[in-house]
Amino acid sequence: MKYKEIIELLNKMTIEEKIGQMVQIGGDVFLSDDTNGMLTGPLKNLHLSKKMVYHVGSVLNIIGAEKVKKVQDEYLSKSRLKIPLLFMDDIINGYKIAFPIPIAQGCSWNTKAIQKMTEISSMESSIAGANVNFSPMVDLSRDARWGRVMESIGGEDPLLGEIYAKTVVKAYQGKNLSEIGKIASCVKHIAAYGAVEAGRDYNTVDMSEREFRQYYLPAYKAAIEAGAEMLMTSFNILNGIPSTVNQWLIQEVIRKELGFKGIIISDYGAIEETIAHGYSANEKEAAKNAINAGIDIDMMSGIYANYLKDLYLENQEIENKVNESVLRILTLKNKLGLFENPYGNTNEVKENTYLMNSKNLEKAKELTQETFVLLKNKNRVLPLKTNKKIALIGPYIDNIGITGSWSMFSDRTKNGTILDIFKEIMGSQVLYAKGCEILRQEEINKILSAEGLPMVHVENESQKEQDMIASAIQTAKKADVIVLALGEHYRQTGEACSRSNISLPENQIQLINKLYALSKPMVLILFNGRPVQLSTIEEKLDGILEVWFPGTTGAKAITEMILGENNPSGKLTMSFPQNVGQCPVYYNHYNTGRPHHKNLRYVSRYQDIPTESFYPFGYGLSYCDFKYTELYLNKHKMNKNETITVSVKIENQSDYAGYEVIQLYIQDLYGSVVRPIKELKAFKKEYFKPHEIKYVDFDIDIHMLKFWNEKLEFVAESGEFKVFVGGDSVNVLEDKFELDFY
Ligand code: GLC
Repeated sequence: MKYKEIIELLNKMTIEEKIGQMVQIGGDVFLSDDTNGMLTGPLKNLHLSKKMVYHVGSVLNIIGAEKVKKVQDEYLSKSRLKIPLLFMDDIINGYKIAFPIPIAQGCSWNTKAIQKMTEISSMESSIAGANVNFSPMVDLSRDARWGRVMESIGGEDPLLGEIYAKTVVKAYQGKNLSEIGKIASCVKHIAAYGAVEAGRDYNTVDMSEREFRQYYLPAYKAAIEAGAEMLMTSFNILNGIPSTVNQWLIQEVIRKELGFKGIIISDYGAIEETIAHGYSANEKEAAKNAINAGIDIDMMSGIYANYLKDLYLENQEIENKVNESVLRILTLKNKLGLFENPYGNTNEVKENTYLMNSKNLEKAKELTQETFVLLKNKNRVLPLKTNKKIALIGPYIDNIGITGSWSMFSDRTKNGTILDIFKEIMGSQVLYAKGCEILRQEEINKILSAEGLPMVHVENESQKEQDMIASAIQTAKKADVIVLALGEHYRQTGEACSRSNISLPENQIQLINKLYALSKPMVLILFNGRPVQLSTIEEKLDGILEVWFPGTTGAKAITEMILGENNPSGKLTMSFPQNVGQCPVYYNHYNTGRPHHKNLRYVSRYQDIPTESFYPFGYGLSYCDFKYTELYLNKHKMNKNETITVSVKIENQSDYAGYEVIQLYIQDLYGSVVRPIKELKAFKKEYFKPHEIKYVDFDIDIHMLKFWNEKLEFVAESGEFKVFVGGDSVNVLEDKFELDFY
């Protein structure tokens, strides 16, 4: 439709029809043959009239060509103006093919890999009828207690957050939203949701505007600059005001300063939650606060549906804001081509041929392998020698549940298991014992009871546990090397999964200890959605491969990797803490006036653990041995219009070929506000043949030296800097240079 036709359509709409466009509900009501039952059942909290249901503008988490068409047909059959529904979904790490969880994708440090994963996911989702995806989540995340770090593609670093936000938004949206394979990106959660106090989900966020601009805003800004069509507000308050009704955040920063013209949707029920926050006195005030702040769509709260009309009739201002919101919503529907074809790119035929096709599965496996992080490889225990007897032990060896807590649409039956794949490759040579459950029933019951679900009792659990360990020991005794597959339960990570204990479950640690007594080489394959505490078990392990929740092709990707058919290249995007007491821990911290120094008492440290993280940001090993030498700067002084070229020599001193992520960090030694001890400013992922030597260059420019000062100006200041180059944020070569505004 042409713009003027959209305006004409808007002018035909009744108040109810306009407000309906600003309401989002679950779409099942249109699949049910008992609408009233749905309104008094799953949707009872929304107090919606049947009439309003057939005015809503969008539905969430309905996907699949047949379902989407059925819902659209049912809705349009009762829609006076035939304005199609928008279908919005949580396709966080893939639709049918589940890719690695976002924190894992970020560990690839490979934007092309992330782009490819997103494009496949976008194509699958588009032909299955999705119009909008609630992705990427780009909340900077420093606290491993927070369950949603698993969704954070940039981890603890603002530069990675910016780069990945841009990559993913452009991969979803392409150049023309109506094209098959393209869907609108709804970036979340604005803002600073990753900074919830104590890592407790939905908790308070309070920080200086300078901190917010330095660390948390850049990724959202990059997403907006990349053309994101939608933003979702976060559950938390930001400096005393819930994000969802925060005028400063939405009007001043997002709309005026960053020029965002797209749709802003609340998170699930977040408008109504402003009452619980103690900000809105009642539902009508919640509606007023949200529309005045600039929320265009109310996700699943019913506040707009039931209270916006009175405000609209009382106040011309509100009428104007409603019209602006509806215009944004109609504009997105038009960009998606829904007025010409209400089914969008939904296509049953393509759905049957494209979803989970073998070419994409093969590609997914390659991409997945880039997300694994080799944390330890003592005595080159990896890759495994295939002439050795291998004992596969642990609850994740024969388990298809490796796709993470946001992959509700993926087809898990297609997930191979490590056991299957090993048997395919090595036949009867493979020995297997489960060894233990992922969690003891009492831990599972804690999760169930917290969700109001009935607890389960297991007879003789401790005896069963001892029997499983005994069997594992017998199996391990026959083997030359033990491969353990352990980690978090997938329901321990994701939304509402904050934990005060980030170590592996006791029963798993018990298994490790018992097997350790056999004095055989032991490799741990770690399945988790957050940095976990490894300090109490690391010494007992010869190898540790971090695989996160690797998705549909994870088992094959892991098996090929530990058998040497592929070489790990991932690097951590979040620091691993010594233990939960160290949270939040991150690499780009300030020095303090009493930086930690061994053997000194009155310095910034803990008495009982080392001050540095257990595994640092940017860290990850390879089967190769990369040696960094000859850091060279073409000059040691620059003015604001110049650059300094930094080069470094890297030698692959091994017989393996593989990738290395060369990282460049900069420290501003002093400034008008204190500056972090180092900040990632550039990186390159380079391929090395066996024994290959490469010289890798980076250019330092003035933009890399800028920061937010006390007056909230984004500036660089003359002075001295350090530059660091290495394969992680700690083992680096360093040199100095000066910026002089001469
Ligand atoms: C959830 C999450 C958000 C998700 C939305 C829709 O509560 O916070 O990330 O996209 O609701 O399911």
